[in-house]
Amino acid sequence: MSYHLIDFKTLGDDRGSLIAIEEGYNAPFDIKRVYYIFDTKKGIERGFHAHINLKQIAIAVKGSCTFVLDNGKQKEEIELNSPNQGLYIDGLIWREMKNFSLDCVLVVIASEHYDESDYIRDYNQFLEEVNL
Ligand code: TYD
Repeated sequence: MSYHLIDFKTLGDDRGSLIAIEEGYNAPFDIKRVYYIFDTKKGIERGFHAHINLKQIAIAVKGSCTFVLDNGKQKEEIELNSPNQGLYIDGLIWREMKNFSLDCVLVVIASEHYDESDYIRDYNQFLEEVNL
């Protein structure tokens, strides 16, 4: 599986905490886009796609959610529940997100601009790509 968790260094003092994410330092790619998913309704599942080239880091800066990662051979579930932990995903991985807490704010940092042609949204096509 082409993913790993990144532990971000928390800078804190009497006032509270701060985390900085910087290209080439704790983000291992050029950052072209940031988006966030919030106000996710109860029981909703999202994702259900893979990317051809995109690299991403997902961080539950508030609340929690579960990523299901599937490389075509095995599936793994990762719970994100901390602002100081990021899930880095690279390569052909089918991803689904579920178990969003009502307060979840999921920030995603991406290596490319939004490009629908980079998406594989059909699971059978994903399996064909993986087995090429
Ligand atoms: P979608 O791919 O369905 O989100 P998810 O993978 O979380 O289920 O995206 C929802 C809509 O937002 C869809 O119309 C595409 C659009 N979108 C953008 O315009 N820019 C973006 O960076 C992203 C991630 C989505």
